[in-house]
Amino acid sequence: MSALDPVAAKRIAGYRAAGEVRDGMVVGLGTGSTVFFAMERLGERITEEGLSIAGVPTSYQAAMRARRYGLPLTDLDEHPELDLAIDGADQVDPLFRLIKGRGAALLREKCVCDAAREVLIVVDPSKMVETLDAGVPVEVLPFAAGTVFRRLEALGADAVLREGVRKDGPVITDNGNFIIDCGFGAITDPGRLEVEIGSIPGVMGCGLFSIYGEKITVIVGEENGCRILSLG
Ligand code: A5P
Repeated sequence: MSALDPVAAKRIAGYRAAGEVRDGMVVGLGTGSTVFFAMERLGERITEEGLSIAGVPTSYQAAMRARRYGLPLTDLDEHPELDLAIDGADQVDPLFRLIKGRGAALLREKCVCDAAREVLIVVDPSKMVETLDAGVPVEVLPFAAGTVFRRLEALGADAVLREGVRKDGPVITDNGNFIIDCGFGAITDPGRLEVEIGSIPGVMGCGLFSIYGEKITVIVGEENGCRILSLG
């Protein structure tokens, strides 16, 4: 495999994360191509080893994939505390601050990340950056989209309402909200920006995950296996 083959890197990272899951665990299931490899492998382990787990999916798509792979599902009402969560990311910085939400699942992903005792972030090497600079998705109550848009621009965002593909008009999230994608350039203080965005009335959540570094392990799929990174 070449370092330039992100799909193979994602598979390696996802499979490695699935290997960390132990019998009896309740596991948060993120959304995206990398974590779906983990779910595929978990399905195999259920068949091969009789592994007994339950998953909390972070989107309709994650729930559909989980069912396809034979993963039993539960929710945060039944399990407000999760043993583990496995999720992908759009960018990861050296302090394990993340940008997430390319797939518009950021709000439930943040709820699951918050509820989990440990979090495995599975990525290909292209996601590892020195400074976060990708667009930050912001999930917005449709009623307040106009005012939130102006407030995000006042924070310095190059803000764009996310449009549907094969659907006219805005993307509607699994929670019935809009997504505003915000370019900020290099984000020097992700924690402060996350708080500032979160304090705007009508913002339901944003794709900056800046406070979970201590419980995150990053699994980077690479040519010769995985790089396992933690802050501790
Ligand atoms: C979903 O909304 C996102 O947060 C994904 O977890 C993130 O974009 C990573 O996706 P891939 O694993 O497909 O790169």
